[in-house]
Amino acid sequence: MCGIFGVITNQDNISLGNVVLEGIKRLEYRGYDSCGVVSLSNSKLYIKKDSGKIEEIQKRIDLAEIPNNSKLALAHTRWATHGKPTRINSHPHSDCSNKIAVVHNGIIENFIELRKALSERGHIFKSDTDTEVIPHLIEIKMKEGLDFKESVVETLKLLTGAYALAVCHVDYPDSIIVARKESPLVIGIIEGKTTYCASDIPAFLPLTRKCYIMDDDELAILKAGEVEFINLKTNEKIEKELKTIDWSIDAAEKGGYEHFMLKEIYEEPTAMKRTMKISKDLLRIFANILWSAENIYITAAGTSFYASLAGKFIISRFLGKYIQAIECSEFQTQLFNSLKNESVIIAVSQSGETIDTIEAIRWAKSKRNVKILTITNVVGSSLTRYSDHVIVTQAGPEIGVAATKTYNTQVLTLALIAIEIAKLRKIELESEIEKYEKALEETPQIIENFLKNNVDSIKDVVNTLEKSVNFFILARGISIATAKEGGLKLKEVACRFIEGYSAAHAKHGPISLVREGFPIIFIAPPDETYQRLIGNVMEFKARGGKIISLVVENDKYISDLSNISIRIPQPGNKYYNIFSPITFTPALQLLAYYAALLHGLDPDKPLNLSKTVTVH
Ligand code: F6R
Repeated sequence: MCGIFGVITNQDNISLGNVVLEGIKRLEYRGYDSCGVVSLSNSKLYIKKDSGKIEEIQKRIDLAEIPNNSKLALAHTRWATHGKPTRINSHPHSDCSNKIAVVHNGIIENFIELRKALSERGHIFKSDTDTEVIPHLIEIKMKEGLDFKESVVETLKLLTGAYALAVCHVDYPDSIIVARKESPLVIGIIEGKTTYCASDIPAFLPLTRKCYIMDDDELAILKAGEVEFINLKTNEKIEKELKTIDWSIDAAEKGGYEHFMLKEIYEEPTAMKRTMKISKDLLRIFANILWSAENIYITAAGTSFYASLAGKFIISRFLGKYIQAIECSEFQTQLFNSLKNESVIIAVSQSGETIDTIEAIRWAKSKRNVKILTITNVVGSSLTRYSDHVIVTQAGPEIGVAATKTYNTQVLTLALIAIEIAKLRKIELESEIEKYEKALEETPQIIENFLKNNVDSIKDVVNTLEKSVNFFILARGISIATAKEGGLKLKEVACRFIEGYSAAHAKHGPISLVREGFPIIFIAPPDETYQRLIGNVMEFKARGGKIISLVVENDKYISDLSNISIRIPQPGNKYYNIFSPITFTPALQLLAYYAALLHGLDPDKPLNLSKTVTVH
């Protein structure tokens, strides 16, 4: 959470203020409690910061207005952890002498003791943040006679916790020093001219495609168009690979859609077609490892967890072994003394930076000889470092805080692994496996057709639900994963308490909420649970429930029992039904999107959320 951005240049024809403002705006998805910018000119720091979203702050103070001769600027967008989202707690933070400024993403776990020690030495703190100890510690090191770089290096040795940070010093106007431990940091470069640092690549993508991905325990000294990397463990210079990023800029910006969330829902078919091209060899590696494993777990958070629920269902069907899904935050407690050697753990994370997922994996590796198979959307993300094998889903950058296209590419990736397992095990006739494979290949087209032709039926449902503050999404079998993901989307972007639940289990309590007109959405692909789901629909209808159903195009029974139906244009047979979490979920994503609009909410900036949760 939090985004950091920095730029240092030797060019006169650049409006540094605009570069830094646009850069930090592209990171606003990481947090939008406050924003701040520091620039450096004539041996002085110029700090501008305030609480609120960038657009709101811009109306009060122009963050892009920085001294003309400034060649260096840092910026930060915050998701509050330590200290309220106020101006005073906004980054950048500086030292007592106002010579050093720091922007930071992560958490300094030992900040209380550091702060106490610093206060005892007379340092005055302006904020409640953990970050503020950093400029003060650097200040002390410099007073002890170390130079800027040495002072940062020595300060980092005193910190425990996670950080991606960028520091500038008025006496070193030609350098920005950055460092990384467990929080993402990338460096963009236009050689000989300008260097950028950022929490994520889209921040500088319109400016350069050349970038370095920093690893944990690395420090970099950025100068205009140059960068030097140092391994903090060995204190030695290191060479890093300069990568060329081939994402289109369009993919990282809104491209004509009103919101990133909508754009990203409409990108699902292309994202999935790209994901279909994942190397078969890599899929087979995953398939082989799972086939020979005795104990298999899958772990993730939020949407990635619901993608995992869908994926484990599909894989278990083809593998013939049960896969246990455990929320990453509960992984240690659940498996405290039962994790076995040779277990295989599938970790699923869009960002690859979710701290609880990383910690679950690190813990498992520290306890037992386990194999980690990771599915992530971000090359080089932290999670990949702890993994034996990694598949990178091809969703491209996802800026909307609500995960949409990445959910579908995650389920698709797990389904592709399942198909490879089916081929290995030959559990069904070869011609049957081909039919499953063909059905899976058709899923992007099914979604494309749905998105083209069904928006009006979604809007009808949204209007029907306008007055409903809470309701259920019910399902059986694999569709429980779909229901849970739909419930999560509606909660986070439409601010409605919508619970995704098992239709059968709802009889054991939740049904008592049902009154005349209480809405219930039933997820009803015609799979092996369909007949029983009819019974559940009847039970809720008999109690006055307003029935909304998500069904396939030629559905007869449940749609007849419903007040209103949304039809997914796909054949209703077993080859397609097993992949229904992929083809049915976009309808619920759109429903959440339009419900947010109806209630005047910004779907790209759900309240209290950050795209990447890097705190426990
Ligand atoms: C919901 C959402 C979150 C994430 C969760 C895990 O729309 O985006 O629930 O799915 O924070 O994030 P990753 O997948 O990056 O580990």
